[in-house]
Amino acid sequence: MDAFVIDGGRRLKGEVTISGSKNASLPIMAAALMTAEPIILRDVPCLRDIANMRRLLHELGCETTTAETDPNEIVLESDPDGPNLAPYDIVSTMRAGICVLGPLTASRGEARVSMPGGCAIGDRPVDIHLRGMAALGAEVSLDEGDIVVKAPRGGLRGATVFLGGPFGSTVLGTANVMSAAVLAKGTTVIESAACEPEIVDLASLLTTMGARIRGAGTPRIVIDGVESLGGAEHRIMPDRIEAGTYMVAAAITNGELTLGNCPYDCLLAAVDRLERIGVSVRPAIEGQPASSSDGVTNLMAVTALDSESSPYRRSRVTVESQRRLSPVQVTTQPHPGYPTDLQAQLMALLCLADGNSIVTERIFPERFLHVAELGRMGAKLYRQGQTVVVSGVDQLRGARVMASELRASAGLVLAGLAAEGSTTVHRVYHLDRGYETMERKLSAVGAEIKRVDEEEVAGGS
Ligand code: EPU
Repeated sequence: MDAFVIDGGRRLKGEVTISGSKNASLPIMAAALMTAEPIILRDVPCLRDIANMRRLLHELGCETTTAETDPNEIVLESDPDGPNLAPYDIVSTMRAGICVLGPLTASRGEARVSMPGGCAIGDRPVDIHLRGMAALGAEVSLDEGDIVVKAPRGGLRGATVFLGGPFGSTVLGTANVMSAAVLAKGTTVIESAACEPEIVDLASLLTTMGARIRGAGTPRIVIDGVESLGGAEHRIMPDRIEAGTYMVAAAITNGELTLGNCPYDCLLAAVDRLERIGVSVRPAIEGQPASSSDGVTNLMAVTALDSESSPYRRSRVTVESQRRLSPVQVTTQPHPGYPTDLQAQLMALLCLADGNSIVTERIFPERFLHVAELGRMGAKLYRQGQTVVVSGVDQLRGARVMASELRASAGLVLAGLAAEGSTTVHRVYHLDRGYETMERKLSAVGAEIKRVDEEEVAGGS
């Protein structure tokens, strides 16, 4: 197992290119199950979750091949008569395996997907996914730990489907039901759909394949079913969470980073918080400088401006901090609110603000694995239920830390970049799930960070 060793306190300066989005890639790759024709995807990040999804698709008779000239381009070709069992050993390593449920049921008439268990950030039920599939006429049951979903004779039927839940909508649930509805008979209306940009990117791919979808990116998606889908080429949208993480990296090191391929329009809630903290965020589109208020454009205008297959503009964004950070309140919400996937990173920054900040988690109420670890670095944090009061300190101090979750681990790396002395972040495999070549990107802009074997640091500091 690997760890990162970070010698903190360096000011980061330079350019970072944002990779394609992990969370857009996963359901998009699953959509390849719905056609026998090739799907060509560009900007697929090289990550552990993507490798696991490729393994899962292989089990389902969908072969994935990496282009010889580009490690981020893959071709997916699915055998329509392939197996329909998503086995426990893969789904248990990657909950996102659930997103094959809709595509498999729609194209093969039946799906058997191992029921994902809880994970480090909470229970994570899939009841809304199943309710959505049942609304399309499918029979849903549980057999020996597997979810079994069977389309009725004659196939899935369009319906009005409500996908709201106790914590808002569901992103992968919306992906599943939207994908399945594409091949259902008649019209489906999804109410309380997730509005996340990754849903828009999936709809964009499905539309290129021949689907008829309106309203993706809004709470009401309307899908007119089609008989079949064809092949397509698609460039994955940039990863908004990776971009937000590097924005915080610039801020926490009192640095200046320019992010290329940055989905600025998808990050307005994060930009708003950073600006209130006192961080400068300056976007430029296609070589034209723009003030941050230009980012508040409606999505249709943004789509119209984009010449790429991705539905969002790819911006160059410069983030700069002259440290004296103001405290803020932040509450995680579904998009376009502040994302839960950037909560830990912002909390690391707020540890160094001048006063008390309040962070409330409304998507995954237990997602606070980083709190105790930040405390080991000298942060002052007081948690009560879903809220943490962060009382800013002058300096964080390096320590050995560990978090059993991707974004919590990212928060600890950021804290390590700012801390005095050496920080070791253990179990880097969590970061490898979601950040492409993180240590290389950070080193290139001045961070002192290296990947080492856990054994090398065992018994150290
Ligand atoms: N929920 C239910 N029932 C369901 C589904 C969800 O109650 O059937 C609840 C969840 O427990 C949670 C809330 O609804 O409280 C939202 O969960 P959602 O289903 O939207 O999460 P997800 O689709 O499983 C995706 C991302 C997560 C991200 C969340 C929220 C992928 C692969 N995963 O998960 O990303 O945090 O949306 O934005 O797209 C990450 O990248 O680190 C990550 C965890």
